[in-house]
Amino acid sequence: MQLLCQQAAEQYSSFRLPYQLDQVFLAADIADLKQFSGPDYPTVLGEGTNTIFLATQHKPVLRYLAKAKSQHTDTDHVLLHVEAGHNWHQLVNWTIEQQLWGLENLALIPGSVGAAPVQNIGAYGVELSDRCSYVDFYDWQRREVVRIPASECQFAYRDSIFKQQLQGRGVIVALGLTLSRQPLPVLNYPGLKELPKTASLQQIFETVIQIRQSKLPDYRQLPNCGSFFKNPVITERQFQLIHNNYPTLPGYPQADGVKVPAAWLIEQAGFKGVVVDNVGCYQKQPLVIVNYGLVDSAPLLALIATIRSTVLQRFAIELEPEVRLLNGAGKHHVPT
Ligand code: EPU
Repeated sequence: MQLLCQQAAEQYSSFRLPYQLDQVFLAADIADLKQFSGPDYPTVLGEGTNTIFLATQHKPVLRYLAKAKSQHTDTDHVLLHVEAGHNWHQLVNWTIEQQLWGLENLALIPGSVGAAPVQNIGAYGVELSDRCSYVDFYDWQRREVVRIPASECQFAYRDSIFKQQLQGRGVIVALGLTLSRQPLPVLNYPGLKELPKTASLQQIFETVIQIRQSKLPDYRQLPNCGSFFKNPVITERQFQLIHNNYPTLPGYPQADGVKVPAAWLIEQAGFKGVVVDNVGCYQKQPLVIVNYGLVDSAPLLALIATIRSTVLQRFAIELEPEVRLLNGAGKHHVPT
């Protein structure tokens, strides 16, 4: 295992706030993980594309780097076993080269394979949970890897057991994904609907990449962590009430209510393209908050507070962050 000290946080979070990480452990395998014993365990980090360090991190940070993959095949399906340190998009790219269906709608999502189940990544009508068979989890207390079947991962919209009961309890070390040799096109999302039903795997993959590149800023040029807030789910009654005053409000029925786009609420609240003190909502997709040269986290926290209170006042909807915000002690910061 490697230990790096006094690291610039910019290299470890795509939001690139200029703080430091006191200690970064780079673990290569399970034997490295076994070197940690409680009561305190490090903060687990993937590629840092969904984590913002709000201050210098005094709690150690750990990255799990193993990235091997192997496959088991029957005639129509392939079960892929992929270690957590693999880059997500490189994996998707490889599945396209192998003519394996299943992950093409999830192209170009930044981050590592190990981070994917934590918030159940999703895009263009597909979620990780649609393709995941199991998650291998190294449990700090038990000091061993436990295989958790997908049915027990409590996958939901941008949520899983790894954000709930198992948060801070271990490290995701690998995933099992079930992919198909037979076509499995999911073309119901705007932008993909226009494709023919016979669209090839390559065509869908390229279209998803085009849509993402046309709307979402590249974090290498404009530091960001993707969607900043979750799309809220409100009651049918509340949806009707708002819809009466704002007939353009889009709504997507769910089992537990109606999902409304946070981007729409933020645009209506007047924040689209607005930049204050070097932080702002991206012009083409206001749900993405961009760091335009911050020197500390205060203006970001101020912007989050203003957006949340404006949306709350106007629509009586509370926006919840989708990104992980960490204070100096490595604890989750929950905006109030
Ligand atoms: N919209 C506006 N104004 C805008 C942009 C969008 O009103 O300027 C409204 C439109 O009604 C549009 C709707 O928002 O139809 C949805 O926009 P979009 O398709 O861009 O998706 P999203 O709901 O904002 C979610 C995910 C994205 C994912 C896309 C595509 C969340 C929090 N975000 O965004 O995921 O790529 O759908 O499936 O669920 C991420 O998690 O970091 C992420 C980028």
